[in-house]
Amino acid sequence: MTNFEFKNPTKIIFGKNTIEKLTTEIPSEAKILLLYGGGSIKKNGIYEQVKTALNNFDVVEFGGIPANPEYAILMQALEVIKTEKITFLLAVGGGSVIDGTKFLSSAALFDGDTPWDILANSIPTIVGMQFGTVLTLPATGSEMNSGAVITRAETKEKRGMGGPGLFPLFSILDPQVVKSIPKRQLANGITDAFMHVLEQYMTYPAGAYLQDRFAESILQTLIEIAPKILTDPTDHIAASNFMWSCTMALNGLIQKGVPTDWAVHAIGHELTALFGIDHARTLAIIAPSHYAYNFESKKEKLAQYAERVWQITEGTIDEKAKAGITKTTVFFNDLGISTKLSEYTDAYDGTAALISKRFTERGWLELGEHKTLTPNDVEKIVEMAY
Ligand code: NZQ
Ligand code: ZN
Repeated sequence: MTNFEFKNPTKIIFGKNTIEKLTTEIPSEAKILLLYGGGSIKKNGIYEQVKTALNNFDVVEFGGIPANPEYAILMQALEVIKTEKITFLLAVGGGSVIDGTKFLSSAALFDGDTPWDILANSIPTIVGMQFGTVLTLPATGSEMNSGAVITRAETKEKRGMGGPGLFPLFSILDPQVVKSIPKRQLANGITDAFMHVLEQYMTYPAGAYLQDRFAESILQTLIEIAPKILTDPTDHIAASNFMWSCTMALNGLIQKGVPTDWAVHAIGHELTALFGIDHARTLAIIAPSHYAYNFESKKEKLAQYAERVWQITEGTIDEKAKAGITKTTVFFNDLGISTKLSEYTDAYDGTAALISKRFTERGWLELGEHKTLTPNDVEKIVEMAY
């Protein structure tokens, strides 16, 4: 285990009927910008609950943040923040609305040339405008971390940002929101959280027994609740465990003191930017190829995962490791998620070379936990995923 520091200042308010607690969590003198997505909150009752809780506050609204939050739309919201003299942001939505809100939190106090620089030049946000969230879709963990990913349609780019100033002040997690989520998004949420754990686990043994077991327990919980939540999203026990697993998968805890990979996400973001494929699905496309391509350097953890998470006790390390990859692929397929790029687009030819070229241009020359994965390797991994 390597040295680490850990601080996560986000207050989590978890459980049934907790949206009403907004009333006491937001500073009373705040002028609030309520941010939401394409309108699901107006159909499932979440909007009414939020509005009721905000009854005595000064609130302006900005709806229409799309999945994969779009820079051009967020720039309109930034204008509202400035003209309305907003002092507090409230995100009500999934990862896209929360990430869009994080961008705004940073951009509102940014004094550089253009807010795109925050993303293009990887400028960390040390202080942002205060914001809270009401999570409507368990998946990304954005509700308890300080990262965000923003899309720019104009240049077909999807770039990350972050910094200690981007932790939400609080996040409200009411598992009852799960019941209105479409099956496709439930499958996405399970897959995204599963992959967040694997990005921080599927590396090499680092003597971090507790982090390994935290990671394995989240994976096992996701495997256990997946069929339950897809069959019955009103199952409160399944919904609660789903929601908390997604948050715990990416709130910083399991990555402390261990090597992390994140190559699957880096490549996956390109597939969303190029083809609009749902974030989680891009991960399911890339992960099996990535693990097969990097088999030698990852096989010890792959075998440990196969043994502890999938109960594969027979065979050599190589055999168990291979079975771990197969089990992962089958798990995604059983959720209704295909693991081949050609299932999502006919225009995949040339994608591998294009992504490799983009990584070279950005100077992303050393990916993965060993920092040895080159753009040339990335090209081969994407080709394997066709
Ligand atoms: O926009 P509305 O109408 O609200 O509908 C949304 C959207 O269409 C719908 N939805 C959300 N809650 C619902 C609901 N529908 C019915 N009932 C509810 N309760 O679901 C659709 C997808 O929402 P979105 O927020 O896009 O999904 P998700 O939470 O999966 O977020 C994906 C985004 O987060 C980024 C991804 O790259 C992607 O842009 N990520 C953010 C991370 C982070 N900040 O830490 C890490 C992740 O790896 C990821 O990159
Ligand atoms: Zn993700």
